[in-house]
Amino acid sequence: MAETKTYPVMHNKNAYITEANYSELYARSINDRDNFWGEQAEKYITWFQKWNQVMTGDFENFNVEWFVNGKLNACYNCIDRHLAKKANQIALIWQGDDPKESLTFTFAELHEKICRLANVLKKEGIKKGDRICLYLPMIPESLIAMLAIARIGAVHSVVFAGFSAEALQNRILNADCRMVITANEGLRGNKIIPLKENVDAAIQHCPKVSKVIVVKRTDQAVSWDATKNIWYADALAQASADCPCESMDALDPFFILYTSGSTGKPKGILHTLGGYLVQVAMTHQLIFNYEAGDIYWCTADIGWITGHSYLVYGPLCNGATTLMFEGVPYYPTPSRFWEIIDKYQVNIFYTAPTAIRALRHEGDEWVKKTKRTSLKLLGTVGEPINPEVWEWYYHTIGNSHCPIVDTWWQTETGGIMISAYPFATPLKPGSAAWPFFGVVPQIDSLGNLTLQHPWPGMMKTVYNDPERFKEYFKNNAYQTGDNARYDDDHYYWITGRCDDVIKISGHRIGTEEVESAFLTDEAVSEVGIVSVPDEIKGEAIYAFVTLKQGVTPTDDLKKQLIHAVRQSIGAIATPKYIQWADGLPKTRSGKIMRRLLRKIANNDVSDLGDLSTLADPDIVKKLISERLTSI
Ligand code: WT7
Repeated sequence: MAETKTYPVMHNKNAYITEANYSELYARSINDRDNFWGEQAEKYITWFQKWNQVMTGDFENFNVEWFVNGKLNACYNCIDRHLAKKANQIALIWQGDDPKESLTFTFAELHEKICRLANVLKKEGIKKGDRICLYLPMIPESLIAMLAIARIGAVHSVVFAGFSAEALQNRILNADCRMVITANEGLRGNKIIPLKENVDAAIQHCPKVSKVIVVKRTDQAVSWDATKNIWYADALAQASADCPCESMDALDPFFILYTSGSTGKPKGILHTLGGYLVQVAMTHQLIFNYEAGDIYWCTADIGWITGHSYLVYGPLCNGATTLMFEGVPYYPTPSRFWEIIDKYQVNIFYTAPTAIRALRHEGDEWVKKTKRTSLKLLGTVGEPINPEVWEWYYHTIGNSHCPIVDTWWQTETGGIMISAYPFATPLKPGSAAWPFFGVVPQIDSLGNLTLQHPWPGMMKTVYNDPERFKEYFKNNAYQTGDNARYDDDHYYWITGRCDDVIKISGHRIGTEEVESAFLTDEAVSEVGIVSVPDEIKGEAIYAFVTLKQGVTPTDDLKKQLIHAVRQSIGAIATPKYIQWADGLPKTRSGKIMRRLLRKIANNDVSDLGDLSTLADPDIVKKLISERLTSI
């Protein structure tokens, strides 16, 4: 593979991690693990009671525990402890979908609202450990709700507001949620999302949901069941602004967040409190070199782990000013991100490669209208960034003076695992670079990336499914599901998933989930889903569909199938190609050979590999001859 060029380190007198101290700290994080992490835990977190053991357990017994018997509260760490010195500092800048609409909240203002909502939750009978589902747009109330739930020791399960009612229902049921917090409607790129309507549909089959708290985001009236529905603003107005923080155990469940695996339904990744908070506070400070007064903007939605770790918990733990944006990058124009950077003088900007690709595609004139001189550092996350796009981000957005941190991590890891250190790592475009402290990556003979040692932010389990949790561990190592390579300069390059997980615009989708969605339509007999490259979204869905006897394949039927997928998952899983297939390639034992489908969809058919188990070679020939090149 052709090596790209290397950008030398930019020196910064305020750098926490430098070329001089990285190796020593990294070595300590591995060789003197307990002392290293004990120090970090004291530095970044305020504990009500100190732990008596930094870590116990191992991967082999699935029983890793961090900061045993430590007591703390996430909301206390994110809000209360900053009040003495920073009560009037802006903690949250909110930029609405409409450029004219924006708000700011100081730490004191957030504190008041969080306490009021926490009291509302208590009044409704919510107790420590109860699960509450959030189905909210990117509005301040979403951050307030997460922290209010954390304050009383309940557990949030945030469901991305782009998921369908059916997907929402599955997640509510799986986590056994007692309450849902939503908005009447969401607003994105001037489009309306009927959130309350989706919640109403979802909870028809969720008898345990006794109350739905509704934020009034727009003036639109919604159907109302007075026995179940509560207006957020009315309830807050009546609640006291005084609510103590619950003292929680470091190992208490903190939140559940659903993500896709290669098989089965989405899994509820459960994070516990202590280790997670240490990991996200520390990585937020060191990877983004966050300094007091910096304006920090992470564009991720709160429905994903990046929103949890690097929009809410990491930055607020560090007393940062965090920016939340309700809208989309291309509304009203493709200058939107850059205008927001200028408007608020953003210093640190963290986004996904798919957004950068899409905006690059729109042309430089949209960027040139803005200055972006406040920027000090850029970050990416969610999928590999190709070197050309990296160069554009670096030169055109960052004016060639901001380091880029390409951060590799996962919902399961809680925080960043592999990344450049902004003022210590010479940058190689397209490489995620170096392991974070305490992280020991290894690449096995198949090119699969594994992590050898436990780290504080790792998930505790898969909610309600300990067996699926166990599947992550083999040979005493955590299996990431990614392929990677390691170069001669000790840099890691993540090349993509090694399983049946697809990344569409950075969103993680399981092929089997999409197949199940197709099968909800009565016309479908069998379906095989694979991914193909997409210039903007990174990957896209290519579906091979066999219809039941007697069903005529038509364009209208394709539309109907797309509709079925959107109904059962959401718009992010919309298939790009649907190819009708008389039959799918199968082994003689009847298993669909997805490997062959992948090759056919990607027009990579010169070498189909070992076909000795293929039951009917004619099927493959036919599929190749009918491959789609346009939608
Ligand atoms: C998968 C995890 C981590 C927060 C957002 C995604 C891919 C993530 C990178 C990167 C190459 C990346 C991997 C990983 N991924 N970051 N910097 N370079 N690939 O979290 O939804 O749990 O997805 O995203 O494939 O396994 P997630």
